Amino acid sequence: MNTIKSKFSLEGKVAIVTGSSKGIGKSIAQGLAEHGAKVVVSSRKQEAVALVVEEFKQEGLEAIGIACHIADSGQRENLVAKTLEKFGRIDVLVNNAAINPFYGPLEGADDVVFDKIMDVNVKAPWLLSNLVLPHMKSTGGSIINISSVEGLRPGFGLGLYSATKSALIMLTKNQAKEWGRYGIRANVVCPGLIKTKFSEGLWANEKLVEQYTKTIPLHRIAHPEEMAGLVMLLASDAASYMTGGVYAADGGYMISG
Ligand SMILES: NC(=O)c1ccc[n+]([C@@H]2O[C@H](COP(=O)([O-])OP(=O)(O)OC[C@H]3O[C@@H](n4cnc5c(N)ncnc54)[C@H](OP(=O)(O)O)[C@@H]3O)[C@@H](O)[C@H]2O)c1
Repeated sequence: MNTIKSKFSLEGKVAIVTGSSKGIGKSIAQGLAEHGAKVVVSSRKQEAVALVVEEFKQEGLEAIGIACHIADSGQRENLVAKTLEKFGRIDVLVNNAAINPFYGPLEGADDVVFDKIMDVNVKAPWLLSNLVLPHMKSTGGSIINISSVEGLRPGFGLGLYSATKSALIMLTKNQAKEWGRYGIRANVVCPGLIKTKFSEGLWANEKLVEQYTKTIPLHRIAHPEEMAGLVMLLASDAASYMTGGVYAADGGYMISG
């Protein structure tokens, strides 16, 4: 029976998750694999992805590890080629890897930092999605871009990062608009403050966390696993009519005062 419940299954699907050796990306990769997907774990370091794959395999999950610095065109091509060589298809692309090399006022950064952050956070997801497109055209697929609440509302000292995350949101909406005709859906997830290495500069600051958690409805910051469920839904056929959407998983930050 073709049940509604069965549409949540990712059985038979192949998913690439960039930046999945730790943090949010790792949790997403784990969630997708636990739900039946064959997962490609990726980050800049082969040893780091190999460790995650080993851990997943011990849990009975199906995964391979392919190192890929997402701003390197040759490594992006290798990621797609090796995925196809191993699994024969790509159904889900999660553009998760990102950087924030600079905290401070807009005028404090230089153009080298600007180019670097744009390259990794915007240009790379655009180009990687373009590489995956021909392989999703006949089967359909789901692209999930990990942005941030910073892409919706400016914080403090994160101006350039914020601008890249806004650009990623608009990129996603255009992917959804242009590629919907192929059955390809594209959506954005905007995490709030999540306890990972990436955001340590924020959550290690007790005063800042106290202020932040006081104002948001759920009164706490989140763990990376709490980002996985939304991505699992968007990756699955249960989300078959969801495209061009921007979904916050932020403890209510976007509705806080
Ligand atoms: N944490 C938060 O509070 C928060 C909030 C909103 C949005 N986000 C977004 O969530 C996503 C994941 O962040 P996170 O907090 O999970 O970060 P994280 O714990 O620091 O993990 C980042 C991952 O990306 C990889 N990576 C870094 N640069 C890369 C590159 N150039 N190419 C490929 N992989 C790269 C890292 O592994 P290697 O070092 O091995 O490459 C690692 O696996 C990012 O898009 C971030 O903007 C995070």
